[in-house]
Amino acid sequence: MERLHRPVLISEVIENISLKEGGVYADLTFGEGGHSDVLLERSIKLLVGNDRDHSTLERYRNEGKNRLDPRLKLVEGPFSRFLSQTEGLEFDGILVDLGVSTRQLLEAERGFSLMKPGPLDMRMNPGVGEPLSVWLTHLTADELADQIYLNAEIRDSRRLARKIKEAFHQGKLSNTVELAKLAGPKIPGKSHPATALFTALRMMVNQEREEMETTIPQLIQFLKPGGRLVVITFHSTEDRIVKKIFQKASGRCVCDEPICRCPKKNWVKLITKKPVEPSVKELEENPRARSAKLRCVEKI
Ligand SMILES: C[S@@+](CC[C@H](N)C(=O)[O-])C[C@H]1O[C@@H](n2cnc3c(N)ncnc32)[C@H](O)[C@@H]1O
Repeated sequence: MERLHRPVLISEVIENISLKEGGVYADLTFGEGGHSDVLLERSIKLLVGNDRDHSTLERYRNEGKNRLDPRLKLVEGPFSRFLSQTEGLEFDGILVDLGVSTRQLLEAERGFSLMKPGPLDMRMNPGVGEPLSVWLTHLTADELADQIYLNAEIRDSRRLARKIKEAFHQGKLSNTVELAKLAGPKIPGKSHPATALFTALRMMVNQEREEMETTIPQLIQFLKPGGRLVVITFHSTEDRIVKKIFQKASGRCVCDEPICRCPKKNWVKLITKKPVEPSVKELEENPRARSAKLRCVEKI
């Protein structure tokens, strides 16, 4: 299978997920199977791979390296549904590698590309939910601005949201390249100003914050004692959500209240006090890894 996505932080995932012989693992964002293929090189008992993107799982089922390995079970759907489909399994390790894959970004027809014109879609599974164009029809400029700010902390989100809504209603916004242009021109040597906008809109269309906030705390319950949860994020908003969930689960205060009412019950031990980032060598080989951050906890 031709793999377009290069998995990030591979050795750091292996080190932190703490592989055990005969262990049971889950990869909740299977993608092109890059991380899972490495886990399957070890003598584990079972790996459940999950992804909400139908086409990515289909490709792996047809051509993937370990498609015939009886230890691999593939499950389709958003990871918020995953736990109800695992029939009470408990895991030695769970991996969540958030965001989109390089393949999803490069296939213009998916609507994630800044460079090649594609439809205003951005759904990770095009068969499910509403595409971006429907969100742009129904949201007010203020609602859109809130989403852009909450998901990617773009400071002039109100101005940007008004520009997007105006262009959309005037029929001047019908593809991803036109959308990217509204964020301003690219300055050589810097990332495209539309990168953060696309992240914000993709997170909105796929309800990514909600997925993380509801599912990540539950995942801890499905770890065996001593089991590890490893999460990789690519944006500061996502990393902050993971950090807060992990701190809360480790019994730390996460509120800003004068009198703290945090439950202070510790379910987990923080394995990474600070997020692990790619090495200089990895960044040289794979610049797409540049904003990756890995955090890990271990169930007590
Ligand atoms: C960064 S890629 C993962 C790449 C993978 N680790 C590999 O090595 O090929 C993220 C994948 O997660 C999937 N994904 C993102 N959010 C998801 C969610 N909430 N539920 C299920 N899959 C999700 C995307 O469809 C995409 O295939």
